Order: sequence, then C-alpha cells, then structure tokens
Amino acid sequence: MRENLKFSNTLIMWYLNNQRDLPWRKSKNPYLIWLSEIILQQTRIAQGTSYYEKFADEFDTIFDLAEADEKTILKLWQGLGYYSRARNLHSTAKIISSQYNGQFPESYADLIKLKGIGDYTASAIASIAFDQPHATVDGNVFRVLSRVFGISTPINESKGIKEFKLLAQNLLDQNDPGTHNQALMEFGALVCTPKKPKCDTCIFNHTCFALQEKSIDKLPVKLKKLKIKKRYFNYLVFDISEESTLIRQRTHKGIWQNLFEFPLHESQEDLQDETDLIKMIRTELHIEGSFTLSKFNTAPVIHKLTHQTISTWFWIVKPAQKPQNTISWKALENFALPVLLQNFVDKYQSSN
Ligand code: ADE
Repeated sequence: MRENLKFSNTLIMWYLNNQRDLPWRKSKNPYLIWLSEIILQQTRIAQGTSYYEKFADEFDTIFDLAEADEKTILKLWQGLGYYSRARNLHSTAKIISSQYNGQFPESYADLIKLKGIGDYTASAIASIAFDQPHATVDGNVFRVLSRVFGISTPINESKGIKEFKLLAQNLLDQNDPGTHNQALMEFGALVCTPKKPKCDTCIFNHTCFALQEKSIDKLPVKLKKLKIKKRYFNYLVFDISEESTLIRQRTHKGIWQNLFEFPLHESQEDLQDETDLIKMIRTELHIEGSFTLSKFNTAPVIHKLTHQTISTWFWIVKPAQKPQNTISWKALENFALPVLLQNFVDKYQSSN
C-alpha cells in the first residue's frame, strides 16, 4: 500500500510541474469534462483541443447543446471522424437536459448508462468532476503500467484489460483521483511515449521493470488480430440420374489439401448471376447438351476457419446426358471430404 502511495505522490508531483495548459483543466464542470473526454476519444489532444474550444464557445451549457439541431453539431464535428460520437453527444445532452434537469449524474453506475459513455469516460467524469475513486485506463495508462510494473498480459484481450484496470484502481489516489488519473495519462503522453520514451529523465527510472530489463520496446503487448479473409465458394453438385455425381481432389496448398470436393468455382463476392457457372460447366467440365442449375441452400452456408470465413452456395446441376468419370453417391463415403461438404452431403441425401 505504501508503495502505491509513493507511486501516486511521485506521479502527481510530476504532473503539477509538467502538465500542459489545456482548456478543460481549468474547470470541474462535468459538462465541460464530458465534452472534452468525448472529443478526445480516438483523437489526439493536438487535434481535439480546437474542437473542444469550438463546442464550448458555441454551447455554453448542456441545454444549448441539447437544443441545437443535429446538422449544426455534425458541421462543427466535421473532420474529427467517428461521427457516431457526435450523434451520441447530442442524444446524451438531450437526456441530461430533459431527464436530469441539466445535472450530470455523479455516480459511475449512472454515468455508464448514458450513450457514448463507456468504462473509460464514466471513470474520467466521475473522478475529474466528482472526485470519485474510479481509475481511467486508456492507451497511455496501459503503456505506463505495463512498462513500470513489467506486465506482459496482452492489452487487447479481456484478461489484460481486467488486470490493468485492477492495478490502476489499486494505485489510484483515493483523495484526488481526478488529478491522479490525468497525471497518469499525461505522463504516458509526454514521458512514457510509444517511441523514444524519455527514460533518462523519467521519475520512475530507478524502479521501472522495462528499463531494467531492456524491454521498453516490447511493452505493452498487443496481440495481432488475424485478418480474417472472406472467400466465396460455389460448388457444382452434379446429380446425375439420382445416383452419381462428380468430385475432384484439391491438390494445391492451402485449406483442405488432398481432400475431395465437388467442382468448385471461387468468386470475389457472392455471385450476382449464373454466367460464370454456366461457363465453367461448358468449358472446364465439358458438359454438352442441356442441364438445369438451381441453388440448394436459401442462404449462404457460412464456414469459419481460423484465418478465413467461407461463404458457400451449393448449386445442383442436373445434366440431360451422363458425363464421364462420375462416381456414385454411395461411393462418396470412401472419400475424405471437408466437413463443410460432408454436412451438405448428409443434408442433401436426407432431403431426397
Ligand atoms: N486524454 C484524454 N483525456 C485526458 C485527460 N483528461 N488528461 C490527459 N490525457 C487525456
């Protein structure tokens, strides 16, 4: 506990001497604190400050903001991006004006119920405007705490989010949580920066885990989220005189190598029409004579793999003449099929 107190005192002392002169820091008015925090979500202070000033000048009180029309608000917001923030700002202003008589609720539990206010913003308003002991955890806080305390739990997974929130809460100065929270964020923005942090002059450089262990550039840990590729498969399921079909072996590298499947046409998106399939039936599969072509499923079958999501249509092809190299549906049992196809086969056979 004493260690925590020391951390907080050192931090606040640094903040009192080094904080930037930012307009919303001159006030504890919850309306202005809220306004600044909504603008600063996903926006750097350098960019957000002029927007804060425009809004605070244009709308003196939350009633003025509530009464403005959405067009005016969106116009003032122009260039900040993530416009849902502006719409949420407006609807929360209306709620506070009409249901709370213009007074912000003071508790975290009531604040977090408002549109556009999540854990971070509820904690920021509760602590800065109302001195309530709720720790704010933003990107700066993750970075400072992971480095100083040597925590390598990924910050973009729920386990890490909980762990950092708990630590931030334990470190929080209960007497002045608003100053403590802002000091920690400010310290991350000015000293413990993502690149080239100022370790030489850092107030924690004797104790910082990452500095001792030379792991500044490894912390915090953020797991790379796999980019999931979307693929569109169209299987041509030949149904020949109700007893045989056509299959092929997948030879190329990638998913399902060496497994068997129906003739496949992969497209860049859901097919708009049957042109490409008819072309494949004629030129690649050499089917002559007439045939019918119809979709079996009424919505695409979605098959999720770790790196890709496959959206599949099964097309039933009934040719008038029997093609070469058919195999019987019964014999299909002896071939290894991907689960996506085996599920289809089971369903198709029970539907016939
Ligand atoms: N980032 C967002 N809000 C902040 C605040 N109040 N102080 C420092 N950094 C912030």
